[in-house]
Amino acid sequence: MKFFIDTANLDQIREANEMGVLDGVTTNPSLMAKENIKGDEACRRHYLDICNIVDGDVSAEVIATDFEGMVREGEELAKLHKNIVVKLPCTAAGIRAVKYFAERGVRTNCTLVFSVGQALLAAKAGATYVSPFVGRLDDISEDGVELVAHIVRVYRTYGYKTQVLAASIRHTNHIIKCLDAGADVATCPLSAIKGLLKHPLTDIGLEKFLADHAKVNGL
Ligand code: G3P
Repeated sequence: MKFFIDTANLDQIREANEMGVLDGVTTNPSLMAKENIKGDEACRRHYLDICNIVDGDVSAEVIATDFEGMVREGEELAKLHKNIVVKLPCTAAGIRAVKYFAERGVRTNCTLVFSVGQALLAAKAGATYVSPFVGRLDDISEDGVELVAHIVRVYRTYGYKTQVLAASIRHTNHIIKCLDAGADVATCPLSAIKGLLKHPLTDIGLEKFLADHAKVNGL
């Protein structure tokens, strides 16, 4: 399973990248706003900064909601860097734009997916990635991981090549469950990625190794 980090924060992206396990980055307009990135020019510069840190796919989301606007923005974004993936919402216009870009060899991430039906349309249109939002489904007492598993089953049964990118991951256990569900990618906050490392027996074991070494070496 590939690991993407779900943030527009450059320090966090650098930190995750330095761990050596990062395969890409996803952003969205809320994450860009959180970093106070305003205006088209600043957004473009920021996406380039991200591409210069990570050698992997970087999802950059369009703001337009109409087909023509999505195409215009998506083409601008795709021109920025070879690793940019155009992120489009799962609406009628978004699906049409996914198809438009697929026919021209531009990679897309179809986002805000909350049902198998939406995921089916994204795959039929030729999306590179589909992003089911795990945490937001859990928030309304549905089962986000089950949706990931269902989409994976449908794609495998029918041979769709679209990669299932589990998004809205909130914690480490979501990552593990999405791994079991067969997700191709999980895009996670830095805290959830770092959480994978945590085990009290590792900390206790290391402390003991160092104490034993210090004792025998008279340190
Ligand atoms: O990738 C989508 C993600 O950023 C949404 O996460 O936590 O806002 O539901 P969240």
